[in-house]
Amino acid sequence: MDEAAIWGKMGDEGFRRLVAAFYRRIPGDDLLGPMYPAQDLAGAEERLYLFLCFRLGGDSRYPDQRGHPRLRGRHMPFRIGVAERDRWLQIMGEAMGECEVAPEVRAELEPFFAQVADFMRNQGPSRGGSPSFGNPAG
Ligand code: HEM
Repeated sequence: MDEAAIWGKMGDEGFRRLVAAFYRRIPGDDLLGPMYPAQDLAGAEERLYLFLCFRLGGDSRYPDQRGHPRLRGRHMPFRIGVAERDRWLQIMGEAMGECEVAPEVRAELEPFFAQVADFMRNQGPSRGGSPSFGNPAG
């Protein structure tokens, strides 16, 4: 499945629901909760939503509003090691479960999220083990 096909399957509404389910879990998370701006969680939610629409075959609202993503640079202010990476992926995995993302779409999204999340790491070994969605069954 290519990226335009992910967009076709998820649609605007699908990405909105996924990102909402992700951010609903953030404030209560002991590790990631404190990293996100408590007064602007809605803004953070909107930025991730627009980025996914842009990156996964949708439209250009993200770069129109934010310019080049420069995602690694934009994550530099936060300490992101293996634990933070895997917690992000775990929460996204829970959000995909809640939204009942179709298995064939999830099979495309998981490696995408895992690769980007590992690229965001700015702490720890350059090879930090396989990014994990926290599911012991794989
Ligand atoms: C690896 C663990 C990660 C952590 C701990 C993390 C944490 C954060 C934090 C604290 C912010 C600032 C919130 C805001 O005000 O926008 C942020 C922004 C953002 N993150 Fe992450 N993130 C992670 C992985 C990812 C991944 C995997 C993606 C994409 C698939 C992503 C996409 C974004 C985007 C698009 C923004 C907004 C950038 C901007 O336009 O300013 N992040 N992240």
